[in-house]
Amino acid sequence: MKLSTLGRILLGTTVAQAATINYSTVTGYFMQDEESTDASKFDYTSENFGLINRTYPVDNKLKGHKSLTQWERFHHQVTQLNDEAPNHIEYKVLFLGRHGEGWHNTAESYYGTPAWNCYWAELDGNGTASWVDATLTPTGESQALKANAFWQKQIHEQRIHTPDHYYVSPLTRTLQTANLTFTGLVLPKGSAPFKPTVKELFREGISIHTCDHRRSRSYIHDLFPNWPIEEGFSEEDELWDGVTAESADAQDARSAQALGQVFFASSGKKEAFVSVTAHSGEIASILRVLKHREFSLNTGAVIPVLVKAEKVEHGASTTSSVPWTVSPHCTEPPVTSVSACVCPSSAVPVTTVLATGV
Ligand SMILES: *[C@@H]1O[C@H](CO)[C@@H](O)[C@H](O)[C@H]1NC(C)=O
Ligand SMILES: *[C@@H]1O[C@H](CO)[C@@H](O)[C@H](O)[C@H]1NC(C)=O
Ligand SMILES: *[C@@H]1O[C@H](CO)[C@@H](O)[C@H](O)[C@H]1NC(C)=O
Ligand SMILES: *[C@@H]1O[C@H](CO)[C@@H](O)[C@H](O)[C@H]1NC(C)=O
Repeated sequence: MKLSTLGRILLGTTVAQAATINYSTVTGYFMQDEESTDASKFDYTSENFGLINRTYPVDNKLKGHKSLTQWERFHHQVTQLNDEAPNHIEYKVLFLGRHGEGWHNTAESYYGTPAWNCYWAELDGNGTASWVDATLTPTGESQALKANAFWQKQIHEQRIHTPDHYYVSPLTRTLQTANLTFTGLVLPKGSAPFKPTVKELFREGISIHTCDHRRSRSYIHDLFPNWPIEEGFSEEDELWDGVTAESADAQDARSAQALGQVFFASSGKKEAFVSVTAHSGEIASILRVLKHREFSLNTGAVIPVLVKAEKVEHGASTTSSVPWTVSPHCTEPPVTSVSACVCPSSAVPVTTVLATGV
């Protein structure tokens, strides 16, 4: 039976607070903002992160600006935008990094997306590979190390201002990616040390796939004892249940909530450069909230975005419910030669949990 004929059953909700911050992407600074840049061919490491070679209106206020690099002048430009902005407006540069290749990525390619979605992704693994809260493959590790080498080169050649704050999704593949990307860098004098805050709301879209099931707080703490875990982070994963899945609207509401905890924080405008290590689906969601154009990232890639956030006054604050959905799947390997979830022997897809857990 085809899923499409079953329809999507509504279940579970995310409560979306009416937006009190209006986010927008400030274009004209990065190649990734331009319609002419092809995301599928773009390599951030060969294009200076995509920073466009140009002058800025405030260049001439900078002493010796002719000997400064593009990134130095850009950082000055962002500082200037913040200095001149009223209190209810804040600018930040978000470096959104996708994790390197994980075992779930290779398994999806191996089985093909339809079969992956309707059966294999609901298992912990296949006996050879494990993808419940997937770890990085050797390729994924080398992608993170490539990012590490690139940051070091940018520090040397561009004297780039490194992130003032780091955030990381709580899934293992992002923890590993952030660690390999930023550990061992010789950071510029006076810059913030690499101590990423583990943040629940930056996790991947919550599907019924076991790769979206995070491990416990204790596990994360034991893996990286020196990394702060945000307040209120639950010991066990209370969001993943293997039956219901976040809709895109629910995920965007969550992404907006996460950004609302990053912008207008106590450190405010002083923390203008922020790194977020997350996932393809979550970064796509953040880009939607930021009104950035669609730009998909390969595993291990990074996209910088100059963001303007503006607090907007509301009358009574309203909340609305964004429904989650269930995703019926097969209980044995599906017929794979089709583009939808078709179970063998005309079996009807179910919504029960197949995994044994993290
Ligand atoms: C949000 O910000 C953008 C860019 O500054 C502006 O064009 C738009 O009108 C704003 N929308 C709201 C609802 O304030
Ligand atoms: C930007 O300028 C540098 C030299 O300052 C040059 O090496 C680089 O190719 C230029 N990049 C683009 C995209 O024009
Ligand atoms: C399990 O999946 C991996 C892909 O991640 C594949 O290379 C391997 O051959 C599979 N093992 C079995 C027993 O099918
Ligand atoms: C973190 O990265 C360092 C440096 O690359 C590496 O030696 C270490 O094993 C990593 N830690 C974990 C828990 O992955």
